[in-house]
Amino acid sequence: MARFGRLVKTTTFRLALLYTAVFAGSVGALFVFVFINTSVFAEQQTEAAIEAEVKGFQDTFRREGVAGLVNAINRRVDPNTRTDGIYILTNPNQQRIAGNLTAWPNDIRADDLWINFSIVDLQTADPGLADVRGLQFLIPGGYRLMVGRDIREARAFRTQLLRSLNIGLGITVALGVFGGFLFSRSIMGRVESITQTCRRIMRGDLSQRIDSAGQSDELSRLSASVNEMLDQIERLMNGMREVSDNVAHDLRTPLNRLRVRLEIAANSATDEKEKAELEEAIADADGLLSTFASLLRIARAEASLRRSFGTLDLGSIVEDVVDLYQPLAEDRDVEFSSTIDFSATGWGDSNLVAQAVANLADNAVKYTPTGGRVSISVKAENGSAVLEITDSGPGIPASYHGKVFERLYRLDDSRTTPGSGLGLSLVSAVAKSHGLSVSLADNDPGLVVTVAFPRPPDTAGGA
Ligand SMILES: Nc1ncnc2c1ncn2[C@@H]1O[C@H](COP(=O)(O)OP(=O)(O)OP(=O)(O)O)[C@@H](O)[C@H]1O
Ligand SMILES: [Mg+2]
Repeated sequence: MARFGRLVKTTTFRLALLYTAVFAGSVGALFVFVFINTSVFAEQQTEAAIEAEVKGFQDTFRREGVAGLVNAINRRVDPNTRTDGIYILTNPNQQRIAGNLTAWPNDIRADDLWINFSIVDLQTADPGLADVRGLQFLIPGGYRLMVGRDIREARAFRTQLLRSLNIGLGITVALGVFGGFLFSRSIMGRVESITQTCRRIMRGDLSQRIDSAGQSDELSRLSASVNEMLDQIERLMNGMREVSDNVAHDLRTPLNRLRVRLEIAANSATDEKEKAELEEAIADADGLLSTFASLLRIARAEASLRRSFGTLDLGSIVEDVVDLYQPLAEDRDVEFSSTIDFSATGWGDSNLVAQAVANLADNAVKYTPTGGRVSISVKAENGSAVLEITDSGPGIPASYHGKVFERLYRLDDSRTTPGSGLGLSLVSAVAKSHGLSVSLADNDPGLVVTVAFPRPPDTAGGA
């Protein structure tokens, strides 16, 4: 039903509806034209015939008087020569003196001289009602004559015609809407497949391509262009990854060499002051190396390809992280508790996800003051998993919730704590490539970080 709703909202469907409306309008106009030309024309024909007959009777009356008129009417109602006319002639006392009606009709609906009424069928024995359209007029001397025609057939024809035209119009509209529905469904199916591919690409699988084979319409050409663009992007990204890997390699080696030299110098230094300074320089080099490693990890997390993804055993990942940070928490006199649901699974690169979870635990332990509490929990929730890390530290003001995920960003209050402001950037890079949603909330006091893992794809179901 939701799909139908979306379908109705598509441009193609609306266009199809518009065309249907325009087409139905034209067909309707044509039908009205046909209707007027046949049915109304037929009615006018009847009236013209009646009028001609009346004129004939008037001539007869002028030439031969009432007797001639009676003769003429009798001739017409004679069963042998009889026409389909309906006649009645009355004398000044309202008594019938000729015609095939027994009495002047009394359920008359008259507009001017023309009258409409129903009578018992004259031509057949069947006592159904006949509809009559007639012309009444007075003859000098108090005589009254009415000439009419049975218009039942014309009426029936008119009704039948109207019904046929309505059915025709209905079929036109139905075909238009149905055609539009089919048409937009096929278009929407293709747009939907493009959207799905784009989504998979955004989740990190740049190897995905839109299926553009088969047709040669605009949509296929668009798909082909997008595919070419993706090829280009993939080439560029591969190039960039190579460059950054090379830079990492080229810079790390001399940096390590520098560090080793500083260490040798520090070891052989005799002067205490000189030794202390050299040790500070070693610490700086370590900081640089670790920042560099973090930047590289983020680059790798961002470029992580779905091909290397597998089922994540989130329980074990969290357990390892807890083991890793428990000693640090004890050192800082922070209570570190965990609740682990070992059935929780996810989909991704377990190294990267473990690093992201470790960074969150690192922050929680690092920013929680002595005597505080940190807890980490992971639970399976109908197929998907939710990880939550809470601490009782200073928390992050809501207005900085977006900012802390930026590279190298640190809150002013944290400047005294060691760190480079890259931990949450890695979390965000992993979240982006893995389709995780990370949200921050207030723990009053402290921070709650919630990470929702999407349901692993079906291919991982049995793994
Ligand atoms: N649990 C937390 N409680 C309070 N503030 C936090 C918490 N986690 C992060 N922050 C704030 O967000 C900033 C960014 O965190 P992030 O992990 O990216 O960097 P870092 O911890 O400063 O350095 P790094 O993780 O690279 O060692 C931190 O500097 C800190 O100000
Ligand atoms: Mg951190």
